[in-house]
Amino acid sequence: MTTHRVAFVGTGADPENPTSDGFAMAYQHAAAYEKLDSCELVACADIVRENAEAFAVRHDIDEEGVFEDYEEMLTAVEPDVVSVCTPPSTHSDLVVGCAESGVVDAIHCEKPMAMTWGGAKRMAATCERAGVALTFNHMRRFGDPFRDAKQLLDDGAIGDLQRIEYSWGNFYDNGTHAIDMCNYFNDERPATWVIGQLDYRNEEVYFGTHNENQMLASWEYDNGVYGMATTGPASEIADGDWRLVGEEGVMDVHLTDEVAVRVRSYADGRTIEREYDDLASDESCIDRAIEEVIQAYEASEESELCARNALNTTEIIFAGYESVRRRGRVDLPLDIEDNPLEEMVESGALSPQTSG
Ligand SMILES: NC(=O)c1ccc[n+]([C@@H]2O[C@H](COP(=O)([O-])OP(=O)(O)OC[C@H]3O[C@@H](n4cnc5c(N)ncnc54)[C@H](O)[C@@H]3O)[C@@H](O)[C@H]2O)c1
Repeated sequence: MTTHRVAFVGTGADPENPTSDGFAMAYQHAAAYEKLDSCELVACADIVRENAEAFAVRHDIDEEGVFEDYEEMLTAVEPDVVSVCTPPSTHSDLVVGCAESGVVDAIHCEKPMAMTWGGAKRMAATCERAGVALTFNHMRRFGDPFRDAKQLLDDGAIGDLQRIEYSWGNFYDNGTHAIDMCNYFNDERPATWVIGQLDYRNEEVYFGTHNENQMLASWEYDNGVYGMATTGPASEIADGDWRLVGEEGVMDVHLTDEVAVRVRSYADGRTIEREYDDLASDESCIDRAIEEVIQAYEASEESELCARNALNTTEIIFAGYESVRRRGRVDLPLDIEDNPLEEMVESGALSPQTSG
């Protein structure tokens, strides 16, 4: 069996104490690779050397595999697969650097894709040019409720899909998971326009990036299905955390107060109820995601977590923020390079208050 030599950029400090400033996601990636016979963990790089050293001890990586500079690591170790688990503002440059090194075949990067729309496009284009398989850790779609909901949808439980609503988290940090799930339900179609409005009165920074307090957005996919998002206060305007509206029924996927899928058919009044102990039952979603990424890489196939799908999600996010900046509907493709929310804070157009 071929062994894939796996390296990590950004290990994090303390996986026992996750906060919105540091989950040490690399430990969860490492645990997933360790479950695969085809993968061997060979190196890690972190600008904080102690972080890399602690990670290496935990995951049986030799001292020679510990680096502060990821480029030195790539030159010395020539890994096949790299997991990028650093803050969003660094994703684009690190992924581009790994792809341009000429030694890496596959990169699995944490979500959100990038801090800016230009950065997201650049990392995808560079990897495509270099023949590097680029994937993003939108792993929540591997949870049992989402898999079951998609199967029920494909089996016709609510007829043809007309609208997908989500009311969960925010539009960027975990919105990237939420919109990824909407796109998963709608067979990875791209959107054609996005319109949105937001409120940002109290500073909300996750992993170094601003997130709105409350948002209302809608969009249309190129197959005529509509998407709708409500985040923050009053987001319960939508009944389920995800609601799928079809021609013949409605399906709710609940994740917050309970983990459940509920279907109600308009056609015959039939209901389906499925309840779950947790999101993914026995295995974690990251294990499933990394297993699928490695299987696709081995088969030279496109992973469902591929950059093409992640770009569809990321375009909706930045187009939603751009709609706020432009005060109007944004038709796609999105013709900006920056992150409109970050820019509106920098320019003073939005002035969130800090709590401290
Ligand atoms: N998939 C999920 O559900 C999920 C959950 C939490 C966080 N995340 C994402 O994971 C990413 C990382 O978050 P985290 O919580 O693991 O962060 P973390 O702070 O725990 O770890 C990041 C590490 O990257 C290092 N680093 C920063 N810049 C670097 C560089 N240029 N080169 C090498 N190392 C560098 C830091 O020193 C730190 O040790 C973020 O994009 C975050 O949004 C995803």
